[in-house]
Amino acid sequence: MSELRHFVDLWALSSADLRAILDDAHRRKAARAGWTQGRVDADAPAAGRTLAMIFERNSTRTRFSFDAAIRQLGGASIISTSADMQLGRGETIEDTARVLSRMVDAIMLRAERHETVEALARVATVPVINGLTPRSHPCQILADLMAFEAARGPVAGKTIAWVGDGNNVCASYLHAAGKLGFNLNIASPAEYSPLHLDLARAVEAGGKVMLTDNPRKAVEGADCVVADTWVSMGDTDYDERLETLGPYQVNEDLMAGAAPDAVFLHCLPAHRGEEVTDEVLDGPQSLVWDAAENRIHAQKSILAWCFGAI
Ligand code: CP
Ligand code: NVA
Repeated sequence: MSELRHFVDLWALSSADLRAILDDAHRRKAARAGWTQGRVDADAPAAGRTLAMIFERNSTRTRFSFDAAIRQLGGASIISTSADMQLGRGETIEDTARVLSRMVDAIMLRAERHETVEALARVATVPVINGLTPRSHPCQILADLMAFEAARGPVAGKTIAWVGDGNNVCASYLHAAGKLGFNLNIASPAEYSPLHLDLARAVEAGGKVMLTDNPRKAVEGADCVVADTWVSMGDTDYDERLETLGPYQVNEDLMAGAAPDAVFLHCLPAHRGEEVTDEVLDGPQSLVWDAAENRIHAQKSILAWCFGAI
């Protein structure tokens, strides 16, 4: 099963494949300009294919965008929360993988534990896609980078500043930096800095990463500033996080330290007044709604890659 194309983490993909997925996503988005959302792409690369989606945690964007994506590719979807499945009563992920592999052509999983997605990918005989775990969120990064590139051109050689919790989304930025050749400045307090493993992966892939606890230093001259919630799904230390991460709010004052044409990204949902102010989220530098839409386009190309159409 080694030829199976799983999309579990960006560090496991080649630079060429990542670039090809992004380029395909840009092309597909442009080709649909003015189309209704339900119209199927001319090449319909998922015709005759079904995607299963399993959610162990809440989702708006991932759920709707993957469903819209597979439809636009000419395929179909089956969606369930794990609570509605026997998975929620103790059936193993491995047995779930064996059964679903006989019923669908790909499986997307949003999991409470990263190891669950890894176990699914080990046993499934169809491609597995990571729809977010506490350790990474690879689909989000491609949607973000599409929005960045549409506004500022190729991301290679540009500088992205991550401000706040060194969380799952930050980890996927680290996984992409070396592969796609952008510089990544990360400002986070020591308590919430990224895992050494993810930093090491970035360095191994040739990524130029700067780690600091000073948000002003991280955003200085940056082409893009990225924020995310201070309290991710599954985090329980709410009060400590709000207190420690308070100085990492992205506001107009901080954005003024970035490049004059810098853009702002946030995977959403946003906690207005915490990690980002209304002025930045709703302001002229914000690309958050484009990035949210791009979840459809990026995931169509991820699915096409999984199906061997790229
Ligand atoms: N950004 C993101 O993954 O959003 P959802 O949690 O709504 O899927
Ligand atoms: N870091 C956030 C992302 C939500 C899409 C979380 O894991 O909750």
